[in-house]
Amino acid sequence: MFRRISIISFLLTVSLSGFAETELSHANDEWAKEELRFLHFAEDGRGMILAPGLLEVLETFIPGASQSTEASEFIQQNFLSVFDSEFRVPNFVEAGFAKRWGLYFDKDGLVGFNAAEDNGVTYGAMGCVVCHSGKAAGEHIIGLGNKNIDVQKMASEVSKMEKLWWRWNNFRTRSPEFKEIEENAMKFSEYLSDEEMGNLTQGLVPTAFIKGWFYRIQGRPLPKTAKGQVKVPQLWGYEKKRLAGQFCDGFGDGTEVGWGIAVELAAGQTPETARGYYDKIKEAEEVFNYFLPPEYPFDIDEARAEVGRQIFSKTCSGCHGTYEKTADGFPIYKEPKRIPWHVVKTDFDRLAVGTPEFFELVNSNPLNDIMKYKHTSPGYFAPRLDRIWSRFPYLHNASIPSLYQLLLPEDERVPFFSLKDSGEEHRFDRQKLGLSIPSVKQLARFERSKKLPRSIYDTRRIGHSNGGHNFTANMSDEDRYSLIEYLKTL
Ligand code: HEC
Ligand code: HEC
Repeated sequence: MFRRISIISFLLTVSLSGFAETELSHANDEWAKEELRFLHFAEDGRGMILAPGLLEVLETFIPGASQSTEASEFIQQNFLSVFDSEFRVPNFVEAGFAKRWGLYFDKDGLVGFNAAEDNGVTYGAMGCVVCHSGKAAGEHIIGLGNKNIDVQKMASEVSKMEKLWWRWNNFRTRSPEFKEIEENAMKFSEYLSDEEMGNLTQGLVPTAFIKGWFYRIQGRPLPKTAKGQVKVPQLWGYEKKRLAGQFCDGFGDGTEVGWGIAVELAAGQTPETARGYYDKIKEAEEVFNYFLPPEYPFDIDEARAEVGRQIFSKTCSGCHGTYEKTADGFPIYKEPKRIPWHVVKTDFDRLAVGTPEFFELVNSNPLNDIMKYKHTSPGYFAPRLDRIWSRFPYLHNASIPSLYQLLLPEDERVPFFSLKDSGEEHRFDRQKLGLSIPSVKQLARFERSKKLPRSIYDTRRIGHSNGGHNFTANMSDEDRYSLIEYLKTL
């Protein structure tokens, strides 16, 4: 059920056969997505890994895999007690992974979980698609951000499961290699379960984890830091995007591939192991160049979209650019423009991660030849809007459920919305383009509640403000809907 891949062999074929430039085609897109689907960087029993024993448990959850009665009984007796009652539904697989931690299943199993082997020990390796694939309007799309991934929740529960499994496994003889990998896995899950740094809501990933590595590796205690929670960005168009700067704020210098290694470093890889797979990361980032974004799957009113196009070129193009397509209808990717924070005024918390001390530690980090910063002045990219229909909830902190809501005056946007089943078709609002919003009654109920579940986006949480980007407060609804129609075509 678990698969391993070799991107190197394909890329060699590509370069030997002499593609000078990235050629967009459906065949290349399909190939590239298959490559990312199984990509992981576990190395030497380190990185984003699961304890070897736990892999056996997970294998029992993979559709089609045979489940041992022993493991099944163990799960019933022990793991269910880890979960609170809200989630004790008969289908443990769906409740435990898909819904609770924001993972997906496809025809090949649990998306982003692979097997790796070192020193004769097989363990679980988490791949990039755990975060870098997601669902929109019922379709699972590789390269779209995962709208429901809950890293903090997953890590804290995996950490408990690993401990239980460790205890249960005590009667087995485990080699020193097995034990070492088990310990590495447990350190990784404990690091990610940290509540100080961890995300508060599904679908948000805290960048503080990456910052933490720069302190750890240079022997400095991490001071109290902003969490810097962001949604996972789309990867199509990255070939051009990286030149303008990496991440939502352009902090990273994308001319090198070093920041692609950062997740693995935070997960416990050493600078040496990271350097060892530099080429593999480089090739992985080249794979993104072949991604095509997902076309809007429903009808578009072309006449209305044309009206919207004119509004867009007057009101939005100055920051978001223009959009042309090739003769084959493929997007022409371009570099996005970076906008100073005082102009866009969206939530500041992500930018608060960047302190002068952190910049200094980036300069002096042991991989500073490949991990450098580019922009440090506070600002966010006005993202390129290719297939923006699929990238809800909107803004870097995913604080706005639909395009219609984004176009409303900032104080009229809903302060709460649900992320439950956010990628399913029944949650997709075709008119307002994005997630459906709660009823007035539900909103009042959320308002009265002091602590809402992690599946409810609550703009009162730190780093969750939905203010700013208040550029269309005076636009008529008529124009808003025309603009939305045009945005479906991008
Ligand atoms: C835990 C979730 C998670 C995993 C796993 C993950 N990423 Fe990311 N990735 C993110 C988030 C969140 C961002 C955006 C950070 C920001 O904007 O501050 C991001 C950004 C990126 C970017 C920059 C995109 C841009 O627009 O500038 C690249 C490239 C990238 N990731 C590659 C990878 C690769 C390769 C892997 C596998 C080794 C990986 N990521 C694994 C969450 C993840
Ligand atoms: C002054 C520059 C500026 C103008 C004008 C502007 N935007 Fe933006 N836009 C931004 C910036 C900067 C962001 C990113 C803000 C963030 O993520 O916090 C953004 C974000 C967005 C997003 C969310 C993207 C995502 O990935 O979630 C959408 C959609 C969007 N803008 C659409 C529009 C439309 C439509 C218009 C015209 C009505 C418009 N913008 C006008 C600068 C601008």
